Amino acid sequence: MARFYGIGVGPGDPELLTIKAARILESIDVLLLPESQKGNNNIAYEIAAEHINPEAKLISVEFPMVTDTEIINKSGKLAAEVVERYVREGKNTAFITLGDPSVYSTYNYIVKHLSADIEIETVPGITSFCAAAARVNRSLAEGDEILSIIPATSTKRLMEMALDVTHSVVFMKVYNQKDKVLKLLEEYEMEDSSVLVKRCGFEDCSVHYDLKEALSGDKQYLSIVLSRKES
Ligand SMILES: C[S@@+](CC[C@H](N)C(=O)[O-])C[C@H]1O[C@@H](n2cnc3c(N)ncnc32)[C@H](O)[C@@H]1O
Repeated sequence: MARFYGIGVGPGDPELLTIKAARILESIDVLLLPESQKGNNNIAYEIAAEHINPEAKLISVEFPMVTDTEIINKSGKLAAEVVERYVREGKNTAFITLGDPSVYSTYNYIVKHLSADIEIETVPGITSFCAAAARVNRSLAEGDEILSIIPATSTKRLMEMALDVTHSVVFMKVYNQKDKVLKLLEEYEMEDSSVLVKRCGFEDCSVHYDLKEALSGDKQYLSIVLSRKES
């Protein structure tokens, strides 16, 4: 039977796509591409383009950029129906996603709607936060330190609960959350150890140590902040 593959294509640099991901994409029959409502979200495709079987059927599946899980679930269900149709026809079908498929990816909304008999293979990718740490030659955690991955879209209370116990932190989805992130960094005296990495892995990647300046007016969705408590 054919399979459904969820493939992480890494953070942006095509050289950070795994050999396994490239091998599977080279012979894939059907490829689902996540698109936001604005139709501007083919970043994963651009990263993996040179490895994708030129004969593959490309299908855009809409995943609006919203936080309402009901809406995302609906998109996941529709995408799962497409996957099931092609896999049952004997076509190896893949969904590609930025970074790793297990980290805030819409991939999971497809998987949970698939019938139990559909064979699934998840191919890990390099996460944005590992790539960002590499970009600034920084370690994320050492020894028995606790590392927290915090979506800046979370509530201030939950973020504070995580920050109370953590040594090192990654803030993801900082786009549009500038005030919340800056306030927390100040509250926990983490400003001096913070770095913002925009479009990590892309040619126009930039690194910023003055977060106040770099985050004001920031319109970059692919932005991530690494920070740690000074010991
Ligand atoms: C929906 S999450 C996807 C995470 C992805 N699955 C991963 O493994 O990194 C999107 C968030 O990841 C972060 N991100 C993803 N790619 C990035 C990149 N190349 N540079 C900086 N941040 C990135 C940003 O914080 C962005 O708002």
